[in-house]
Amino acid sequence: MEQILEMVNIVKTFPGVVANNKVSFEVRKREIHALVGENGAGKTTLMNILYGLYKPDGGDIIIAGEKTSIDSPIVAIEKGIGLVAQHFMLIEPLTVAENIILGLETRKNKIFTDMRKANQKVKELSELYGLEVDPTARIMDISVGVQQRVEILKILYREAQILILDEPTAVLTPQETKELYKVLFSLKEMGKSVVFITHKLNEVMDISDRVTVLRGGKAIGTVNTSETDATQLASMMVGREVLMRVKKEGKKLGEAVLELRKVSAVDSRKLPALKNVSLEIRAGEILGIAGVQGNGQTELVEVLTGLRKATSGEVMLKGDSIINKNSRSIRELRVAHIPEDRNKRGLILDYDVADNLILGPHYKPPFTYRGKRNLQNVWQNARNLIAEFDIRTPSYDTKAETLSGGNQQKIVVARELGGDISLLVVSQPTRGLDIGTIEFIHKRILELRDKGVAILLVSAELTEIMSLSDRIAVMYDGNIVGILQDEEAKEEQIGMMMTGISKVDALRGEESD
Ligand SMILES: Nc1ncnc2c1ncn2[C@@H]1O[C@H](COP(=O)(O)OP(=O)(O)OP(=O)(O)O)[C@@H](O)[C@H]1O
Ligand SMILES: [Mg+2]
Repeated sequence: MEQILEMVNIVKTFPGVVANNKVSFEVRKREIHALVGENGAGKTTLMNILYGLYKPDGGDIIIAGEKTSIDSPIVAIEKGIGLVAQHFMLIEPLTVAENIILGLETRKNKIFTDMRKANQKVKELSELYGLEVDPTARIMDISVGVQQRVEILKILYREAQILILDEPTAVLTPQETKELYKVLFSLKEMGKSVVFITHKLNEVMDISDRVTVLRGGKAIGTVNTSETDATQLASMMVGREVLMRVKKEGKKLGEAVLELRKVSAVDSRKLPALKNVSLEIRAGEILGIAGVQGNGQTELVEVLTGLRKATSGEVMLKGDSIINKNSRSIRELRVAHIPEDRNKRGLILDYDVADNLILGPHYKPPFTYRGKRNLQNVWQNARNLIAEFDIRTPSYDTKAETLSGGNQQKIVVARELGGDISLLVVSQPTRGLDIGTIEFIHKRILELRDKGVAILLVSAELTEIMSLSDRIAVMYDGNIVGILQDEEAKEEQIGMMMTGISKVDALRGEESD
């Protein structure tokens, strides 16, 4: 197969870290090439170099047999390289088509400023590649999955031959992931190449032709997907065997910790999002919430953590009403929260790691006494959590924004799981984390349960919900369709209930086949 691009002995250092240590990487025409490795292994850095965002300290990039320097994304695009970043870069108030042509509209041929023509061209492109979008919709009104299609169209519009996707499926529902697969296969059919970064080894096995593994900034090896399996890849990534499944002890239920009675709320557009939701979680129990994203899970979590007002109903925490209290008062009652959107809600990227690790209780002892910060305690807390959660950072006073995506997430998880809590409300706890870290976080969540913490777990990963939950509530259209005990919860039934089918019908469906 024809090799179209080669990176040879790439070196990139940042203060205190060698992010890429003589990495070689090759892309062939018409292939899907997976790039995997632990959080902080250097994947994003390597691709940012290829896209001209970072200048390497050493090494060569060879395109079509010639040494090339790519010193800006403009050059990368000229060379046929396009990147969809780990965090999207779209402009919310603009339309789909406006975002796609952004930056090109000053070209000589006026076609680009004629919005009617631009809309038409975007539509044609979207049909050609099966990336369905409405060119006139505003970014802020479309789902994350559709925003991603816009990012992909944007680079196709610039005629990319090599498409780099940095953790594209981390934000997608299982259905959206399947649709993305189709798009990637058709891109390959048309002769394009795709570099696909992911932490999900089943995805690697499903769609890639080859896999390159990075560990600690070094390339460990490139293998043909047909000649490997998830277990082998996992041990190449982590350097040890990974269990991939945690053991759950029998549960010891305590008192009711959280009780919701007929809680309703509206979403940001003032449409009903939660409709009379009632549920109870007891000490020592994990209640999983399964459902297709956008069926009220986000609003449920926001109401519980004081980020959104309920319009009616009652929320009781150990017998006290907490409905419509603010986040700080709810936190004071030993409620921890891992939010789904960590960059927006979980971190202050401009602060250092130590300060991010105390957000929440930062204003009180042991971190602050009478308005004065106790730095020794702040740093000690940081040192402890960095070691315990294996946060890969040069130091505790490094700014959070320079950490790898997964290590930023570990900051939030460490902070929230590390405290003394009675209720944990957690959304997508392992999104973007590598398999070794997922195993570790799952163990920690189960330890909290065994210590008597009540846990509400929202996750788009059905396997995560199924392996951790004691009971599973399925949400559809703002309602809880039914609650399954873990022994009666099978993937098929949960899947049916996620489309609104009642528990009775879903369980009966099983008998009739
Ligand atoms: N702009 C930067 N400034 C300083 N350090 C950086 C910068 N970008 C990356 N690093 C460091 O380089 C290393 C590799 O980070 P990178 O983002 O490439 O990892 P990754 O493999 O993409 O991880 P993840 O799976 O968590 O996204 C990390 O130690 C990170 O802290
Ligand atoms: Mg990354």
